[in-house]
Amino acid sequence: MFNFFKKPKPIHKDSSALDMDRIPKHIGIIMDGNGRWAKGRNLPRTMGHKAGVETIRKILKECNRLGVRYLTLYAFSTENWKRPKDEVSALMTLLVEYLKNELKELHENNVVVNYVGNIARLPEAAQRALSDAKEMTKDNTGVQMNLALNYGGREEIVRGVRDIAEAVHSGAIKVEDITEESFKDYLYTKGQPDPELIIRPSGELRLSNFLLYQSAYSELWFSSINWPDFSEDHLRGAIADYQKRDRRFGGVKSE
Ligand code: IPE
Ligand code: IPE
Ligand code: MG
Repeated sequence: MFNFFKKPKPIHKDSSALDMDRIPKHIGIIMDGNGRWAKGRNLPRTMGHKAGVETIRKILKECNRLGVRYLTLYAFSTENWKRPKDEVSALMTLLVEYLKNELKELHENNVVVNYVGNIARLPEAAQRALSDAKEMTKDNTGVQMNLALNYGGREEIVRGVRDIAEAVHSGAIKVEDITEESFKDYLYTKGQPDPELIIRPSGELRLSNFLLYQSAYSELWFSSINWPDFSEDHLRGAIADYQKRDRRFGGVKSE
């Protein structure tokens, strides 16, 4: 029978108290502000990137603890090749080191390592480290970390359109088969839910080509904190704010 006397929702004084039944399944993070973090300490930008890796470790653990299923981390965009050569190669070296040094721990923590983006342009050592990590962790059941590498939302969509055009051309699918839902199978995130929450630290208020198709109805959360200073508390705060949002998807407020 319909219950007219709905229990009032508990009011948490502590804003970080979370409704564990409404943890986002998929969170995207634009890991920004490493350079500014380093500059503020008179350190080279690379040191900021190194410090950012530490944050990944903490946030992954917290996501696992909270039961987040997918965590997409924007690590290198299709536009980041514009940076000085030294910085690009330092980032690639850091990626390989991270995967090599952390793989055992990632595996022990039940993390599934995955990537999104066109990794064919990455140095071979990085491609190898990624496929090794993916292979080793593929049967794990914890949070899936999608490292977004040489990732661009526009590149992803255009690539998907090309693949669809080929599938139509070869007769594998019909034009009528192309729908908003079926198009998702042509994206790097095939089979994954859209991110309910996208977090961008560092004070920038833009998506910078991140998950353009998937973010149509994502809740966005911005903070001026730089990524190396981002903590478990910030993550929990972002999720707490997300849980207060009224997600209407174009409909009317749910009472
Ligand atoms: C994000 O930090 C890391 C990458 C884009 C690889 P930035 O390097 O963009 O840091 P800021 O924005 O210059 O502070
Ligand atoms: C976005 O940050 C890409 C990553 C965090 C990997 P950027 O620092 O490259 O973005 P813009 O240039 O501020 O838009
Ligand atoms: Mg930046």
